Amino acid sequence: MEQTFIMIKPDGVQRGLVGEIISRFEKKGFSLKGLKLISVERPFAEKHYEDLSAKPFFNGLVDYIISGPVVAMVWEGKNVVTTGRKIIGATNPAQSEPGTIRGDYAIDIGRNVIHGSDAVESARKEIALWFPEGPVAWQSSVHKWIYE
Ligand code: TYD
Repeated sequence: MEQTFIMIKPDGVQRGLVGEIISRFEKKGFSLKGLKLISVERPFAEKHYEDLSAKPFFNGLVDYIISGPVVAMVWEGKNVVTTGRKIIGATNPAQSEPGTIRGDYAIDIGRNVIHGSDAVESARKEIALWFPEGPVAWQSSVHKWIYE
């Protein structure tokens, strides 16, 4: 089953949005396979965002991610990468639809509350980086009510 890496950024943690965000993924029917509150250091954040290292906003982005603890999660389910991105909303909250997490809870692109993997391959890399111990293997007892 497909997995994605979701991270609640320091603003989301400090604004008390952790429960709300987890709730949206749970209510959709996705399964939580990994969860930790963690502060990361600069080299780790730079590795996570290495594809963006040439961007002008890179240093500010890294400063933001290391400014406080983040909630790192693995979520599992059918099409969870694409559907997770829809639940999150567009990168720039000014363009995120109401009803999405960024559309409901963010204003600035540089404080957009949450990260979600953009493809199955990047999810695999991000899960390996953030959860070297591996996700937790379990299956929800409501599985048969979520999937036909
Ligand atoms: P990106 O991977 O393009 O977006 P997403 O998080 O939706 O996959 O960019 C990573 C983060 O970088 C984004 O969530 C917010 C930040 N960012 C800026 O601060 N300024 C920008 O102009 C862009 C494109 C992104």
